[in-house]
Amino acid sequence: MPKKTRKSSRGLPYRRNSKSNPCPMHRPFTPPPDHACIKVVASFEELVSTPFSNGVNALCWPRTLAGDFQEIVDRLGVIEEITSLDEDDLRALTLSPAGQIARATLIEDLRRLRDHELQPELNCIPAYPRDDASGPVPTDVYSFHADSANVMADTFLCSYTVSSSEGLRPEDAVRCGDVPETRAKLLALYGGADDDGFKVFLNENFYDLHYVAKSGAQPYGFGLGNMWRITTDWPGRVVPPCVHRAPATLPGQPPRLLLIS
Ligand SMILES: [Fe+2]
Repeated sequence: MPKKTRKSSRGLPYRRNSKSNPCPMHRPFTPPPDHACIKVVASFEELVSTPFSNGVNALCWPRTLAGDFQEIVDRLGVIEEITSLDEDDLRALTLSPAGQIARATLIEDLRRLRDHELQPELNCIPAYPRDDASGPVPTDVYSFHADSANVMADTFLCSYTVSSSEGLRPEDAVRCGDVPETRAKLLALYGGADDDGFKVFLNENFYDLHYVAKSGAQPYGFGLGNMWRITTDWPGRVVPPCVHRAPATLPGQPPRLLLIS
């Protein structure tokens, strides 16, 4: 479930070791045209130090990673629920040379985030919990949402296998509570007037953090291997929060490996 500082991440299943037909998720990342909200950086240092301004709410450090990350997941066996891996867990795995390369990258990514006083988690994710479909606004991470924080905080994330998060330009996103039909349903659920108490109700139930895409809007994929730093919804923010969602979990798909902080 998303927490008060919410985290998340869509993509496509990919084919490993396919040189003749490289998966789009593995192609070098280039922001789609007209996506001024994304800025590409050239290093981790630039990723952590570049301020968000001028409408930029997502920084991407594009990477094409060597190694076999899927092997890491395969070595874990059957995973029934979201499982965190630390450095010791990774070191305990018996891996091929390609798996060892992937492991070294994962350990390095964990360390570089920790060295910046962040608290990274490497998660193996078969699926996220889902809201039941009866509510007016889904509040799980498969729904477009902004992460939130009470103080200045950004979300760092990198998808290594299967599929990646999807983002939405601010101009393509509409807060669910601002859709008249949805707002009417939320008001009915609240059982009161459209007043300050209603705002509190929206906030306490996380409804104010969830969005829908405008008709025809095209989300952008974060891609595999790229490390992102995206803005959250916090009181001092100077740019819109980065609206994003987790990729759909498809039947038969292996668990996804995601680094998040
Ligand atoms: Fe999120």
